[in-house]
Amino acid sequence: MLGNFVYCNPTKLYFGKEALEGLRKELPKYGKNVLLIYGGGSIKKNGIYDAVVKILKECGKEVAEDAGVMPNPTSEKVNDGVQRARACKADLLLAVGGGSVIDYAKAVSVSVHCKEDPWTKFYLNMEEPEGEIVPVGAVLTMVGTGSEMNGGSVITNHDQKLKIGHVFGEEVFPKFACLNPEFTFTLPQYQMVAGFYDILCHILEQYLSDFDDNTSDYVMEGLMRSLVHSSLIALKDPKNYEARSNIMWTATWALNTFVAMGKTTDWEVHMLGHAVGAYTNATHGMTLSAVSMAYYRHILPYGLAKFARYAVNVWGVNAEGKSEKQVAEEGLARMEDWMRTLGLAMDLKTLGVTPDMIEGIADATYINEGGYKVLNRQEVIEILKESL
Ligand code: NZQ
Ligand code: ZN
Repeated sequence: MLGNFVYCNPTKLYFGKEALEGLRKELPKYGKNVLLIYGGGSIKKNGIYDAVVKILKECGKEVAEDAGVMPNPTSEKVNDGVQRARACKADLLLAVGGGSVIDYAKAVSVSVHCKEDPWTKFYLNMEEPEGEIVPVGAVLTMVGTGSEMNGGSVITNHDQKLKIGHVFGEEVFPKFACLNPEFTFTLPQYQMVAGFYDILCHILEQYLSDFDDNTSDYVMEGLMRSLVHSSLIALKDPKNYEARSNIMWTATWALNTFVAMGKTTDWEVHMLGHAVGAYTNATHGMTLSAVSMAYYRHILPYGLAKFARYAVNVWGVNAEGKSEKQVAEEGLARMEDWMRTLGLAMDLKTLGVTPDMIEGIADATYINEGGYKVLNRQEVIEILKESL
């Protein structure tokens, strides 16, 4: 049964090879001052920077820049961005990059007109923004997080060894996002496949909860099948437009709030992955893949029927003559084969985790209550040790 819900997603999307033309259509809606936010420089190498700046200039904008947003953006960098946005009196924050750049732009957007410390207010204390929010627009270059069409903003504080995501309301969603699948062709394979796993994991975090029959679960099964199919094509042929565009669209739907409607959700793999990220600064998707198999095998007995359905409907397991447990386990084994084929990190050692970090990572892992099994601290430690 679907629970009750209110649904609204205010982000306008421009999708396809001409998606950047959407920027030209959107810019007149905002004031003159644009803060152009980007990462470590990939957009300068692949020509996206030049294409964006050309449109900004043609639309008569004053452009200030905020470069160097790192993967897993930090609270210190957010403070720096707030100063830059204030200095140029930004009317629009234009994020050109992946989840890190877009998440960061959202963090800056709620903090420009706020006198309090952003990390403490929005992340440690999870308070909602009260004042004016500077609008964010996005040009997506890395597929995975869904940040282009959601309110999520994940920030890391290395001193406190915490990585925290605030899911802001619709007023913080990007006002618009330009999605050109060709912009992702220059992604290094490591980032590409990490993004693929992030997508699957987002769907599973929302799929592996509730035993009820509801539309969202059917939608998610279709998204996962499309992802698995296209990922294997993209692995061999990264410039395959059909595969990369399907994956880009799947990623957006995986985490634009739609499939969560009427369901409870888990998100425990993300809590484990974020804690690992706070300790290692490893690539987000890889922190998820490294802990996933131990986590899913641990909770499988508590959600057996759904794991068996997942095995049949997503991984094509033939259930005939097998127990529910056998079917469920076969599904996870096929998922693991797919993960290994992609070349994902399958253990924490690969990401730089050492045994002495386990207790600290467990302390930094938030325990959620929406999954099949609410973990206790000992279980978190067991899962982390198994993942080592
Ligand atoms: O910084 P540059 O030089 O641009 O390089 C980036 C970065 O090193 C590179 N890259 C991006 N587009 C490229 C490219 N390289 C070549 N060609 C391109 N077209 O890829 C690297 C990774 O980028 P990043 O933005 O860090 O990756 P991703 O999109 O996976 O974002 C990760 C961040 O998002 C958070 C994660 O925790 C992490 O901090 N998440 C955000 C969520 C949300 N908003 O809802 C949910 C997710 O679960 C996740 O937690
Ligand atoms: Zn994720």
